[in-house]
Amino acid sequence: MRLYLLKSPKRVAAAAYAHIKEILTSVSHPILGLATGSTPLRLYKNMVDDYLAGGISFRDTTTINLDEYVGLSGTDVQSYRYFMNKNLFMHIDIDIKNTHIPNGLARDLAKECLRYTELVDKNRPDVQILGIGSNGHIAFNEPGTPIESTTHVVNLDQSTIDDNSRFFDTIDLVPRQAITMGISDILKAKQIILLATGTSKAMALTRMLTKHFSADCPASFLQKHPHVTIYADESATHLLDKSGV
Ligand code: PGA
Repeated sequence: MRLYLLKSPKRVAAAAYAHIKEILTSVSHPILGLATGSTPLRLYKNMVDDYLAGGISFRDTTTINLDEYVGLSGTDVQSYRYFMNKNLFMHIDIDIKNTHIPNGLARDLAKECLRYTELVDKNRPDVQILGIGSNGHIAFNEPGTPIESTTHVVNLDQSTIDDNSRFFDTIDLVPRQAITMGISDILKAKQIILLATGTSKAMALTRMLTKHFSADCPASFLQKHPHVTIYADESATHLLDKSGV
């Protein structure tokens, strides 16, 4: 695992984008694993800006997102499909048919989970972007999720519902369930880039980096992956003993 400490969220996004661009431009049909949440927003803006400036094309790129709320349609402003369309896909030249997000409205959720795991099997991301939850989750793999997990339906932790309530008018509107790639799906990516910004991530990041991996901190399972790069700002790393970094 490689950790880059950067001064600000802006520098985190710039460094992560430089890394991702190198991958996107060196592979003929890149597969990009994407995440939602507030952390990757600057990164997506950098992608859009670079595309608009003629620096990159996404014509041959396929994307696979990590997760989606159960019960929301893609036109619901709170859905992750809507988030991705609004913050990235509608501003770049990607073919929307090549953008994949779990279907939170599927009538048979078990079948949808199976379909998604197979999709990841057939389309291993060249790079997977991840955020980290304040409770150490990655995607919606909450504490307690085993490393062998594949795509599944999850009941969200109260801490995740609290964290995500900032995007909703009231906390009661936050969905209680999501469909998420499992840990084993995430570990299939050829490379993983994790972004962590802000003090609320400091405890989870420290736990992930400094203690043996275990299900109480799903992000710690990334220790098992051979190619993980973390871009983090000063606030997210303030609890780390940097003498050994
Ligand atoms: P955030 O979420 O980027 O909105 O902080 C990250 C996550 O929960 O993975």
